Amino acid sequence: MSILLRASNLTKSYGDIPVLHDVSLTVERGEFVAITGPSGSGKSTLLHILGGLDQPDSGSLYMDGQPYPTAPKAVDRFRNQFLGFVFQFHHLLPEFTAIENICMPGWVGKQKEVEKEALRWAKAFGIEDRLHHLPGQLSGGEQQRVAVARALVHKPKLLLADEPSGNLDSQRSEELFSLLKEAQKHSDLAVVVVTHAETWAKHADRSMHLRDGTWQA
Ligand SMILES: Nc1ncnc2c1ncn2[C@@H]1O[C@H](COP(=O)(O)OP(=O)(O)OP(=O)(O)O)[C@@H](O)[C@H]1O
Ligand SMILES: [Mg+2]
Repeated sequence: MSILLRASNLTKSYGDIPVLHDVSLTVERGEFVAITGPSGSGKSTLLHILGGLDQPDSGSLYMDGQPYPTAPKAVDRFRNQFLGFVFQFHHLLPEFTAIENICMPGWVGKQKEVEKEALRWAKAFGIEDRLHHLPGQLSGGEQQRVAVARALVHKPKLLLADEPSGNLDSQRSEELFSLLKEAQKHSDLAVVVVTHAETWAKHADRSMHLRDGTWQA
């Protein structure tokens, strides 16, 4: 295995409130890492920093051996090349169909054969006969699958997910876990997921616990 992401000694405060102290994390290519921890421990803050959506006060971040870019255009390109995001609430665009929602990041990144890749994930996730529905005409679980397919269509190397099962019942949550495992297996994708679900933490390749902004053994 080789290292995809290397984050070293990250610190972050909001005003005079410290949120992350000296947090380091490496993620191997294709690895599935679960992050757990109490509310307010800094999980989302860490995920945003790993995703280049927020900057640490100090520390370093490398993706594929290269430091994270800082120029806005380079950051956009970097995100499009390496990262996919899944959030607790999936924020599908209500006026676009399922297939259009899935294709959107690929179209934005001017990727070739977006539709082909979108269809591949739609089939893998069993939503290929729902693709011309609007989000409002889909069940919660179908919407979640559309959101995961959308996060994967541009072939990211790392999927970051912040409590993606937070609003799902336990069966749906397990379905979503299998989908992410499927994605991991099919495309050598690394996954870092913040989760409250015990089973997710248990079945991940590695599970880390954050407390008051530092790792706990
Ligand atoms: N933009 C912000 N401005 C000020 N304080 C913030 C900001 N974002 C987060 N915080 C504070 O930083 C701390 C960590 O927040 P964070 O969202 O990372 O926690 P979390 O572990 O994701 O919690 P939860 O499980 O509730 O989602 C909290 O005390 C929060 O109030
Ligand atoms: Mg959070």
